[in-house]
Amino acid sequence: MHSSLDLSPEEFTQFAESAVDLITQHYQNLDQQAGFHPHTPTEVRAWFDEPLPLAGMDRENLLELVRSRVLAPATGNAGPNMYAYVMSGGNQVSTIADFLASTINQNVTKWHLAPSMTEIEKRVVKWGSEMLSYTPDAGGALVSGGSEANLAGLTVARNVFFRDLKIGQEGLFGQKPFTVYCSTETHNCTDKSLSLLGIGSNHLRKISTHPDFTLRLDLLEQQIQNDIEQGFRPFCIVGNAGTVNTGAIDDLKGIAAIAERYQLWFHVDGAYGGLAASLPSLRQHYAGLELADSIAIDFHKWLYQPFEVACILVRDWSHMRETYFKAADYLGGSLPQKTDRFEFNEHYFQLSRNAKAFKVWMSLKAYGFTRIQAMMEKDIALTRYLEQGILKRPELELKSQSHLAIACFRYRGQNLTEAQIDQLNQDMVPALEKDGRVFIMGTRLNGQFVLRACVINHRKTEQSIDYLLDVVSDVGAKLALEMKAK
Ligand SMILES: Cc1ncc(COP(=O)(O)O)c(C=O)c1O
Repeated sequence: MHSSLDLSPEEFTQFAESAVDLITQHYQNLDQQAGFHPHTPTEVRAWFDEPLPLAGMDRENLLELVRSRVLAPATGNAGPNMYAYVMSGGNQVSTIADFLASTINQNVTKWHLAPSMTEIEKRVVKWGSEMLSYTPDAGGALVSGGSEANLAGLTVARNVFFRDLKIGQEGLFGQKPFTVYCSTETHNCTDKSLSLLGIGSNHLRKISTHPDFTLRLDLLEQQIQNDIEQGFRPFCIVGNAGTVNTGAIDDLKGIAAIAERYQLWFHVDGAYGGLAASLPSLRQHYAGLELADSIAIDFHKWLYQPFEVACILVRDWSHMRETYFKAADYLGGSLPQKTDRFEFNEHYFQLSRNAKAFKVWMSLKAYGFTRIQAMMEKDIALTRYLEQGILKRPELELKSQSHLAIACFRYRGQNLTEAQIDQLNQDMVPALEKDGRVFIMGTRLNGQFVLRACVINHRKTEQSIDYLLDVVSDVGAKLALEMKAK
């Protein structure tokens, strides 16, 4: 009989060393990692289709299974051939940090359960604020991703803005509909958040943008006035510090002025581009960010962290407690308060919480923020290089440009009609997935289907970008031939 789940020290060392060998091999092969391995769902399902294992298997065999069925066919988001979504590929120091964090397995919910991890998280929140030059009084919490950070920001916005209505206790019953404002380019997590918050996504006013995909302030103000006249209750404007489609940065100062004029909450979705506000070369484009009441930022994007870690920042840390605190005897609510202990469970929804801040803290300590900023600068320079490459190729057409690291473009080939180009680019996504050399997705801009290359990855080089363009041109040419042959 085993007395516990633990291995002997020798067995543990052996297992850990074998796992580290596997990890090292994986890192060594990243340069050659394909963007996507086109195994079918049936195939992948079959690898894992087995009854509950009642007896344990040999650990070395298990690692071999992991190598062949999990690491080898993994989607290449850590390598240089990934352009789909916003995937930053992680970093090695954080990989080790996650290993250490799960070893001590602290629960960052009450100070006495995780003293160092609690103080580290508080510090990382402050560092997040410092990166953006936000107020030194800012507070917040680390959360799973940009979506959750935006939900948290909008939750705090709703409960603090309507403090007098005691929404936390009374709900929204009998209130005039609240309205929230953002551009048509805003990420769908804002719609989802409003559905969850009882405000309703139909009360999200999506305002049209300028040709550079930034929010039109004139239309924003008109819509607010219109809503007031119609009996709605405007309460919050969401500005984008980097849109998901093109990386457009709204006129945050202009939005802040409108929020001030109508006494509204100003929330910024900086999940994609917020951290680039730390770059002196780009700072001017973020003027007004410091005026936000809450900001969502995402460390698994432009801080190159492994999933999942993002951060909600609020102007005043007490707003988190005001929103989330609920006393409970089993959490020590009836014990005398130790006021110098910060309790995360009183400042956020989750009770049990892992130590998300630890990998951020360790990697910032190991690399230093300046080195991380240099990687952001590199991503941005590579995106400019990509744009130049697109412009040089007559078969391609550049469709968006921003200050950040996303470029949208189309394959237009030769002598194709507009409808054919649109269809061909839609066909490009599954065709490129099947090809597998690079992984890139598409989106729609002004109704046109475009390919969208996101270049947040510290492992990319100019050669990776040339390779992307070669593959896109190659796959595009084959599809165009097939289309003409039909
Ligand atoms: C602007 C913006 N907001 C929110 C999100 C959602 O972030 P997450 O995927 O971390 O939930 C994204 C993701 O790309 C984004 O670009």
